[in-house]
Amino acid sequence: MSNEATAEASRRRTFAVISHPDAGKSTLTEALALHAHAIAEAGAVHGKGSRRGVVSDWNEMEQARGISITSAALQLSIDDVVLNLLDTPGHADFSEDTYRVLAAVDCAVMLLDAAKGLEPQTLKLFEACRVRRTPVITMINKWDRPGREPLELLDEISDRLGIHPTPLNWPVGIAGDFRGVTDPQTGGMTEFTRTPGGATIAVGEPLDAHEAARRHADDWYRAAEEFELLTASDHAHDQAEFLAARTTPVLFGAAVLNFGVAELLRTVVDLAPPPSAWTDVEQQPRPVDAPFSGFVFKVQTGMDPAHRDRLAFMRVCSGRFERGAVLTNARTRRPFQTKYAQSVFGRERKTIDEAWPGDVVGLVNAQALRVGDTLYDSRPVTYPGLPRFTPEHFAVFRPRDAGRAKQFRRGIEMLDQEGIVQVLVSDRRGAQAPVLAAVGPMQFEVAAHRLEHEFGAPASRDPLQYGVARRTTPESAPVVDRQRGAEVLERTDGVSVALFTDKWRMSTIARELPAGSLPPMFGDDDGVDP
Ligand code: G4P
Repeated sequence: MSNEATAEASRRRTFAVISHPDAGKSTLTEALALHAHAIAEAGAVHGKGSRRGVVSDWNEMEQARGISITSAALQLSIDDVVLNLLDTPGHADFSEDTYRVLAAVDCAVMLLDAAKGLEPQTLKLFEACRVRRTPVITMINKWDRPGREPLELLDEISDRLGIHPTPLNWPVGIAGDFRGVTDPQTGGMTEFTRTPGGATIAVGEPLDAHEAARRHADDWYRAAEEFELLTASDHAHDQAEFLAARTTPVLFGAAVLNFGVAELLRTVVDLAPPPSAWTDVEQQPRPVDAPFSGFVFKVQTGMDPAHRDRLAFMRVCSGRFERGAVLTNARTRRPFQTKYAQSVFGRERKTIDEAWPGDVVGLVNAQALRVGDTLYDSRPVTYPGLPRFTPEHFAVFRPRDAGRAKQFRRGIEMLDQEGIVQVLVSDRRGAQAPVLAAVGPMQFEVAAHRLEHEFGAPASRDPLQYGVARRTTPESAPVVDRQRGAEVLERTDGVSVALFTDKWRMSTIARELPAGSLPPMFGDDDGVDP
């Protein structure tokens, strides 16, 4: 069995696509599903507009706003390799959620729009990968349209991200007059042919160097020369450097036309690392062939409006997951029954009977599970919890109908456990008026919507004029709390959080306190709270 776990782990690749909205993530996901064999059929899920897509937009609010909040995993197979593609929310306001998904993958694909290069959300998500030292493969998309110079894009990656780009192929012809990409395997190129509708798989025709020169003359010579120069200098792919997240292999393509998608799949299969030992809170690695363990990176309630259940998404870290096994929750030391286990993508659900390291299992009826929980079999283990991001928006929520106070409290507790918002309380404000804290304001919309529709407790919302949050110490908390333009509350995980109207107010107050009294929170521009 232990050998089986090692073998199963070694043929898995678990990854996510990070991108700024509109760079083409849904299109790429769909194209990947088309090229590989989608193990869980993606056909029943729908994307934006009329286009068939693979974003999970089941929720009416998500549909109304054209955003995708929920995350799930699509399992694909190519040859003997199983790919787990984890879906990440596209909207910047849900970057905390995205971070959690990134904590569950072994590799990320950074998708850039050729005309736009690095955009704010790409930068933020890349930062999350950097903190975790997750290897990143870069795909420059929309090459069929006018865009920027490839060399300029490489420079931008290296200057702004501090990661060294190593192109695996090189575009022949400029963006907008795309002829294809060089093929380093054959020394020739893959010619790009436009197919009407773009809904087919085969669009690249392999050409040898002679034929490439005959058909594309100067464009071919220029591309071949540039690629040779780049790879002969220090831009050649080096697997160890890539795995250490110091370099990023770069590919060019056009997802909507299915061009470059097969190359990307091949690259994920060949270069992305398979699941390996997961490090626990004591910094001890648990090998993939150890007894079963997994950690919960996402909890979602009410995915199926017909029966409001609670689903916890768990990444398998070691051993074999078997449906029906009784596991232990490391936080509570209580048993957890895994009678109902599913793969979930969009509206599609399928029962999972077994899973291996790298796979994602949706555990149904997971009332007892929270984001960051570890589940294990036989030998105990606890994996590090997932950090909460620095909130930037704050609002007091109150039940509109005093008779629904119980439902309101229950709803708030649930939203907190799912990590939809952070919940801050203080004696002064009382339990009926918690301060909800969010990275982006849309999190409040989700909270309000769910309180009303799921818990039957419509809430009023009073925004607070705070914009900066810091942790604080027991000594300085009462001092800060007395200041104008500041307030101290306690987060439900016990962290004492100080809120300030702005940075200026915060630094004025900090000057009166001993050094280190207001440490930054995770994801803050000023630092990282591990
Ligand atoms: P997202 O999930 O990252 O937000 O992006 P999505 O896939 O929805 O793509 C955003 C837009 O970019 C879509 O156009 C999509 O068709 C287009 N797109 C994606 N890949 C490529 C590409 O390789 N080349 C070109 N030219 N366009 C691409 P839309 O007009 O917003 O939607 P639709 O009407 O085409 O569905």
